[in-house]
Amino acid sequence: MNHFDYVAGQLHAEGVSLADIAAKVGTPFYCYATATLTRHYTVFADALKTAGLDATICFALKSNPNIAVVRTLANLGAGADVVSEGELRQALAAGVPADRIVFSGVGKTKRELEFAVAKGIMQINVESEPELELLSQVAAERGVRMPIALRVNPDVDAGTHAKITTGKKENKFGIEWTRAHEVYRKARDLPGVEVVAIACHIGSQLTEVEPFREAFLRVRDLVAILRADGFDIRRLDLGGGLGVPYDTEIPPHPDAYAAAIKDTLGDLGCRIVLEPGRLLVANAGMLVSRVTYVKEGSTRTFVIVDAAMNDLMRPALYEAYHSIQPVTEPAPGAPIIPVDVVGPVCETGDTFAKQRPLPPVKAGDLVAFGTAGAYGAAMSSTYNSRPLVPEVLVNGNQFAVIRARPTYEEMLALESLPDWL
Ligand code: LLP
Repeated sequence: MNHFDYVAGQLHAEGVSLADIAAKVGTPFYCYATATLTRHYTVFADALKTAGLDATICFALKSNPNIAVVRTLANLGAGADVVSEGELRQALAAGVPADRIVFSGVGKTKRELEFAVAKGIMQINVESEPELELLSQVAAERGVRMPIALRVNPDVDAGTHAKITTGKKENKFGIEWTRAHEVYRKARDLPGVEVVAIACHIGSQLTEVEPFREAFLRVRDLVAILRADGFDIRRLDLGGGLGVPYDTEIPPHPDAYAAAIKDTLGDLGCRIVLEPGRLLVANAGMLVSRVTYVKEGSTRTFVIVDAAMNDLMRPALYEAYHSIQPVTEPAPGAPIIPVDVVGPVCETGDTFAKQRPLPPVKAGDLVAFGTAGAYGAAMSSTYNSRPLVPEVLVNGNQFAVIRARPTYEEMLALESLPDWL
């Protein structure tokens, strides 16, 4: 569910007309609805509570790291899951307490580990033996024992897109399931780390509960093995990954997900940490764009918009579906014609939708791409020297620009000519 609806023939985010925002900030822009962020967080948190789980929800910043979005979720009680020093700085700037931040990722650098240790975050999820050794050394030098989880790779097929599957042994993530015990033993002997948890994340945009359940049962087995060997496993970080409806898919309700956690791990007396990203923010965001031209080809009609693959990369990268709707409500009975919706970037891949049935649109009209709050702005780039698009947060009848559109002068100022030119 989201809070983007037609009011008096104009698409609104809560109480604000998207056309009014477009008039003030220009296009394209991302627009987020506070009410949807709040609703999704609340539904998720309530599901965990109803299942009787003692859980910390660490929002995966990678899906939408804007500090105003993170602050909105932090105000509701969210912690943060970060994967870089940049995200850690954003989480702290948004006001997430350090003791509610977990740090994941396969390639944390020494500098990043030092920064995380210095900030005293809740936990670092270690993904390899070399990282374990480096972290221990970094923490020991500061005279601390850093609380850690080992991220284990349970070798479970998440049944999602190949590019976002992370829990198979051929994926680069985590420590192989079969070696986990041995690496935990190694961790126990290192001076700078304290083993407190197991972490596991099998993929993103999962639309079935079963792969989660399978992975959780493996985590359960590992808890038993480690406890029998004297480890004090107090937390289980189960990652993120619960899917959202982009098109016709019906992902499990958070209640079913919470029940799977409860059934498989609920009796272990562990605090549960979750890292949802997409679930909290995807449907809270739209990308609003203006039609630049409508070009009639001999075999198809191209609707050329001013947003491009650099602004919303998911269709080009994963062939992902995003809904597209005119910001002005189509007249009842308007003809629906299949069109290709494309951006201006010089690649055929810069296509948002092929043969998408849409009511007629013309140059100057606004269109809105749905379910764009997760991995939209977060993955944008300046390809074709296009400025990053602004982000706007709506709350009731008010809105604010929460990331400004850089000027061309600011973009050019980052570059310089060497003195030999
Ligand atoms: N935790 C870890 C360790 C992760 O790797 C991820 C996502 C998450 C949590 C959050 O997963 P979520 O709840 O959002 O599914 N760019 C892709 C998605 C990449 C996901 C990467 N890891 C997309 O646009 O679909």
